[in-house]
Amino acid sequence: MKNDQNKPQGSTLPTIQEAIQQPTQRLTDNLGHAISDDQNSLRAGVRGPSLLEDFLLREKISHFDHERIPERVVHARGAGAHGIFQVYDDSLSEFTAAKVLTDASRVTPVFVRFSTVAGSRGSADTARDVRGFAVKFYTEEGNWDLVGNNIPPFFIQDAIKFPDLIHSVKPEPHREIPQAASAHDTFYDFISLTPETMHTLMWVMSDRSIPRSLANMEGFGVHTFRFISAQGQSSFVKFHWKPLSGVHSLVWDEAQELAGRDADFHRRSLWDDIEAGNFPEWELGLQIFTEDQAAAFDFDVLDATKLVPEDLVPVKRVGKMTLNRNPDNYFAETEQVAFMPTNLVPGIDFSNDPLLQGRLFSYLDTQISRLGTPNWVELPINRPLAPVSNHQRDGQMRRTINPGRVSYEPNSLGGGQPAEVPAEKGGFVSYPEPMTGVKVRQRAESFSDHYGQAQLFWNSMSPVEKMHIVRAQQFELGKVEVRDIRLKMIEHLRRINAVLGDQVAAALGELETAEPMPSDAELMKLLEKAVSDTTASG
Ligand code: HEM
Repeated sequence: MKNDQNKPQGSTLPTIQEAIQQPTQRLTDNLGHAISDDQNSLRAGVRGPSLLEDFLLREKISHFDHERIPERVVHARGAGAHGIFQVYDDSLSEFTAAKVLTDASRVTPVFVRFSTVAGSRGSADTARDVRGFAVKFYTEEGNWDLVGNNIPPFFIQDAIKFPDLIHSVKPEPHREIPQAASAHDTFYDFISLTPETMHTLMWVMSDRSIPRSLANMEGFGVHTFRFISAQGQSSFVKFHWKPLSGVHSLVWDEAQELAGRDADFHRRSLWDDIEAGNFPEWELGLQIFTEDQAAAFDFDVLDATKLVPEDLVPVKRVGKMTLNRNPDNYFAETEQVAFMPTNLVPGIDFSNDPLLQGRLFSYLDTQISRLGTPNWVELPINRPLAPVSNHQRDGQMRRTINPGRVSYEPNSLGGGQPAEVPAEKGGFVSYPEPMTGVKVRQRAESFSDHYGQAQLFWNSMSPVEKMHIVRAQQFELGKVEVRDIRLKMIEHLRRINAVLGDQVAAALGELETAEPMPSDAELMKLLEKAVSDTTASG
């Protein structure tokens, strides 16, 4: 579809496209009229009332009045950067037809937005929270969005629970006080009644949820996806981002102090690093495995509360992403960027993970609400670099100027112009996975273990990391006012590890003991000694 208008013959004016980019030395209103006085509104006499006639005052104030758009319903606070991605070699062509992952000569532009999940747009960067790690690849086959997090599992197994999870963690509806003792009540109320959250809760109580910088975070696609080769062969794949500057975290006291001293701590260091030429880099890592391998695991790869342990399937590093340019404008880019897990390119496909399946609906729906129109795809940060050609038309804020009388297909009136008669070819084809089954609202038995990987995570921690988890859980549950919720949580933690549960119980005054509370050093010794005693009780 044509965006440019041809210059009328004999006109000295620029085309619309040229005019948009044309710098001007004079101050104008929004419609290009020069402004003679931007300091004073129009009055009836120097001490008289302002006049309704003052179109300059009205335009300026009215535009200001409409500056805000709704913040994201989750992941509201974010920081973004432009960069590039390049795959190391063509070895993945055995598994995927995606050119972005197989053509080593391609340098694909990317835009990345990091975020916290729960806080509002103005919340502090260093809050204990999952971080979003969303990457938009502007590939020659269209945009690919890898909309991930910095923690590999997720809290819940089924998308139908997502609004409940988020309502429990957001400020309470009646008084909108975040971070209050009672906000902890609602979150832990939900968590304590939803044991599938235990694995992710352990990650969130660990140092992973207070990263030192955004450049020190890993990223994960979380769900199992499919790779499809050019020959139509399918394998499963998990996506990882491995930071080349290593994984580093804050300690809790630092995180709290920074939240007060510099709420923009992460946003600022990302910006400063890029300005200084210290470009943050990540390698893209992949775990590729077959359906037969997946069937032999003792967990279900369609269950997003589980990860695939790296000793079962090692992570292969296949390419590098470098963030090398700060946005020119926060609102136009970082705020208006819109990610969708449905943005895929041929060679990558979804799995039947019921959390992912729900996300496939949610993002387009929420973008229309947040950005106000389905034409958000035409915003500069969202539009693909690949050409767009279809029969969609109209809608609020439509920018594309579609020529001709035809906006349907098949048609015989388009005159054969490719722009007017787009042909269906070379597109995404869903993997023809054989399907049988009865229509049910029920989870598979293979989704029923909620403690195994929580224990695996705990056991993989060093004593100091375990000590941090104990302290985090003591702190957080100390903010829960309802005793019954605290008791339920202690029982969940005991099922993960007895020392963890007992130490939290002791701190909450729920353990009959004459022993004084251990210092950090004593607690670490206790945890070191307990390593060999750990018994898994799934
Ligand atoms: C943002 C829904 C699970 C990663 C969002 C947004 C919604 C949403 C409505 C706001 C989008 C916007 O306004 O731009 C859901 C639902 C989920 C789910 C319904 C489960 C059923 C997940 C999971 C991940 C994730 C499992 C990680 C794999 C993100 C990220 C963003 C986001 C990174 C922020 C994107 C940005 O920076 O603009 N999600 N989400 N979400 N979600 Fe999810």
